[in-house]
Amino acid sequence: MLLIVILIQLVAIVGITAGLGQTQICRFVCPDSVGGSPLQEEILNPNGAVNVCDWFGNGLALRFASFDSAGNVIPGSASSNNQFTTRAGEHCTQVTEGWTWANNQVCINDTVSSRILERDTIVQLSNNSPEACTAACDALGFTFAGTEFGSECHCGVGLTTGTANIPHTQCNMACTGNSSETCGAGDHMEAFQGPNPPRAAQLPAGWSAFADAPCARDSAARMFVDTFIAGPLLAATNTPAACVDLCIQNGFDKAGVEGGDECYCGTEFRSAPELIDQGECNQPCQGAPGIFCGGNFAIQLYLTS
Ligand SMILES: *[C@@H]1O[C@H](CO)[C@@H](O)[C@H](O)[C@H]1NC(C)=O
Ligand SMILES: *[C@@H]1O[C@H](CO)[C@@H](O)[C@H](O)[C@H]1NC(C)=O
Repeated sequence: MLLIVILIQLVAIVGITAGLGQTQICRFVCPDSVGGSPLQEEILNPNGAVNVCDWFGNGLALRFASFDSAGNVIPGSASSNNQFTTRAGEHCTQVTEGWTWANNQVCINDTVSSRILERDTIVQLSNNSPEACTAACDALGFTFAGTEFGSECHCGVGLTTGTANIPHTQCNMACTGNSSETCGAGDHMEAFQGPNPPRAAQLPAGWSAFADAPCARDSAARMFVDTFIAGPLLAATNTPAACVDLCIQNGFDKAGVEGGDECYCGTEFRSAPELIDQGECNQPCQGAPGIFCGGNFAIQLYLTS
């Protein structure tokens, strides 16, 4: 019983210290409907203005308008001025601090056969929401996150080209973890963008990468004269920062990650590192698959600065 309580307290403390704050982001969108006609087309602008709204359906006449970055209809832009005594709508959501919309649109198309996030990786969350999904993707070293179908959290490293503009009203499924928020819909995603480089790529104080692109050739003889193989201690949690931490604890001032799950420590290079194309360091870190931890006999090197 005592053990359980301690464990729960530990989890709570770790949760608080490791937890990032949340922030609310809002942007103007087209009104959901006008005069009984649902929103049909929506083009949103990076400066917060609403470029185009079209409403039609049920035999009702086409209606259109644009709104400025304060949410007011732009004079002369509307099909009928008296339809637009109201302002633009506002769409708000909670995200992890440092995250914001991934592009102008609130809602974009995303299908299994044509994924919109580069290196799309689905994370299982029992309580999905923009705040939970951006937190999960942040911790895993990804720079993009997207919610879909209410329950799905996707992580990625970029947006592929050709995001289709679809109205925000089509991303209408409630999030499984917060019913006051929407989490996309079937084949429709709400996408967010976080810090780049990601927080998971930050190194402990006083350490830096060997070079801007720190990927070097390794061999069976190993990079360091005094090699300490810390890999097995980390394996599933390996990241450059976790490897450096373990090397610090064991008294080394150089570290290298390789093959996704390997971590090496040392104090002396066997010979001057031969830098190779960073593209050879292409194995996702086991502990943060959004970032890379070396490759096949390709090691990413870090040292005290
Ligand atoms: C649920 O979402 C609403 C709207 O974004 C937000 O105000 C609220 O803080 C969220 N609840 C939790 C528990 O995060
Ligand atoms: C978005 O996908 C739907 C199918 O789910 C398709 O009918 C529609 O044309 C797509 N929208 C755009 C703007 O490409």
